[in-house]
Amino acid sequence: MNWDKVHHDATSWIKEAGARIRESLRHQIDISSKADENDLVTNVDRETEQFFVKNIRKNYPEHKILGEEGFGEKITSADGILWVIDPIDGTVNFVHQKRNFMISVGIFENGVGKLGYIYDVTRDELLSAKKGEGAWLNETPLSPLEKVPIEKAIIGINPTWVTENRRIDYRRLVPIVKQARGARSFGSAAMEMFYVACGWLDAYISLRLSPWDFAAGKIIVEELGGKATTLSGQPLSLLKNSSLIVAKPGLHEYILKNFLEGYEEK
Ligand code: IPD
Ligand code: CA
Ligand code: CA
Repeated sequence: MNWDKVHHDATSWIKEAGARIRESLRHQIDISSKADENDLVTNVDRETEQFFVKNIRKNYPEHKILGEEGFGEKITSADGILWVIDPIDGTVNFVHQKRNFMISVGIFENGVGKLGYIYDVTRDELLSAKKGEGAWLNETPLSPLEKVPIEKAIIGINPTWVTENRRIDYRRLVPIVKQARGARSFGSAAMEMFYVACGWLDAYISLRLSPWDFAAGKIIVEELGGKATTLSGQPLSLLKNSSLIVAKPGLHEYILKNFLEGYEEK
């Protein structure tokens, strides 16, 4: 596979999709809900995914596609080359704030991350990584992530998980927030992983995400020496939903050992 060409194509499609989304913000957006009334989807989510699928199928007919909106195929194995796409991560932000939403694209070969992209559409900032070669914010190379003690860390976590919920005894997470310097919630998993990669957050914790939420972020953060696993320390799967902790080296191990030992995925 000519990975330089794949990188070139992915970058240009992401930029073009982003320009189309920015243009769409000037027009009426059709909003509907999926699993529940807070799980929003718009015509722009669907059209963006279709744009990627059309381009990938035309240029790389042998590649597989896993997309949130279902225009790819049903994936039963990670064999071959697989594009994992979230056309808009943070749709609630897209609808309510018209900012703080990302395009997220991760490209894997036999389950191993090769290329990762998170595009902050309204800020025109593209975070990218090539396995073994580094990661960049636009054209600027990013430095490897450095260790930080929890007392100096800012943790990304949705308030849902530190109030009563059905995935975890929230009292396990409260001391993490208390010990940390601060906590933030941005409403887009891809954006929070973007911030971890850039060192603007030190960790991000979620109890339930889908592969398209974390696929690109995992590739990018790992390229910078960070860690991304489930809350029980298991490797992330491209084939199923799971919890997620992504963090700087050292902090990841510290949180798992001190607060999450014995946690079992629900
Ligand atoms: C959602 C966002 C959000 C996370 C949800 C995701 P969507 O993705 O990443 O931050 O908490 O679990 O579903 O639906 O906006 O693509
Ligand atoms: Ca998402
Ligand atoms: Ca989405």
